Amino acid sequence: MHLLAEEEAILAGESGETRQQMMEILVALGKVFSADRLVPIRSAQVSGASYKTIGEAGLEWLSTLDARVSVPTILNPVGMDRVRWREMEIGQAFARKQEDVINAYARLGIKLECTCTPYYIYQTRFGDHLAWSESSAVAYANSVIGARTNREGGPSALAAAIIGKTPEYGLHRVEERKPQIVIRIDRATNWEESALYGALGYFAGSEVGDKIPYVQGIRPKRDHLKALGAALAASGAVALFHVEGITPEARIFEYDVGSLEVLSVEPEEILSLMNRIPVDAVALGCPHCSPEELTEIAGLLEGRRVTRPLYIFASRKVIEKSTEAVACIERYGGRVFADTCMVVSPALEQYGAIMVNSGKALAYVPNMCGAAVRIGTTEECINSATEGS
Ligand code: F3S
Repeated sequence: MHLLAEEEAILAGESGETRQQMMEILVALGKVFSADRLVPIRSAQVSGASYKTIGEAGLEWLSTLDARVSVPTILNPVGMDRVRWREMEIGQAFARKQEDVINAYARLGIKLECTCTPYYIYQTRFGDHLAWSESSAVAYANSVIGARTNREGGPSALAAAIIGKTPEYGLHRVEERKPQIVIRIDRATNWEESALYGALGYFAGSEVGDKIPYVQGIRPKRDHLKALGAALAASGAVALFHVEGITPEARIFEYDVGSLEVLSVEPEEILSLMNRIPVDAVALGCPHCSPEELTEIAGLLEGRRVTRPLYIFASRKVIEKSTEAVACIERYGGRVFADTCMVVSPALEQYGAIMVNSGKALAYVPNMCGAAVRIGTTEECINSATEGS
């Protein structure tokens, strides 16, 4: 890989041990994936922020680092709402450790926005190079915005954030962003519910693996695309997908997909995932809610009373922008938490069964929370949270 003189100097340790270590990570990655050079990035998003997932070893490693990030950088959700953690019944010992992790990242200059929806915070444009690590954010950036990021691990995203560059391989190259498999929804559908797109992603992701799918037969809106990509990334390892006539690169490049393998999906196969098991709690906001989703939840909840715990997750910035919707949700008994989510927080481990409207949560909740999971539409989730009210 060709390095500029200033990059060689960092690698030689001339700007400190941490920057040297970070450059070593980027160069090693670049060599493995045959990158020709490093490209400057516009922003970074770093996973491995919840104490529940990185534990003591991760915290110790972070505490040894001594450098500042070079580009705007935010964190993935952490294990608790940084302000309302007591309301989440988070123990004092966990809260203290989580604060240590957050402080270690803050010392590196990382903004304490903890969200899997950085695209609601940073202006991210078509063609921007990024180093994001949360899988749903990566799928959204690549597919919905047409920005370019590989699915970074926590350390490689942090290395890119500190150096301000990433090796140019994989999805940073236009020629590696072409569709590799077709997902065809038999009989055109007109779904208006994110949960159905999430269920589709959950269903198709395991078949598609890490290939780039080209989806035909759906007309999703932005929040639907968010749900679809998150689930494709969770049950498979999809980092980029195209939807015919909808996503930017599908419209610009008008790909010829005639020779590709086709995965045919019947709408009934998706509807059959919507099960009816009894649940103890309801959790919405995976990925974190948009302002429109908070407004929708508030509208569905208005005038009713929550009878089983209703958790809603969104970034702090989106919550601050959505004061009316949030006030309405809380007035009727729901709780809107920032900084964290149903999967990376230990708060939901107390429940035996959780209802969600997300295909990604459907894939992750059983392992990460040890709970059974039921997926339904947002309206069905609110019905479940207010049953008997
Ligand atoms: Fe985001 Fe947590 Fe879901 S990080 S995508 S809300 S599992």
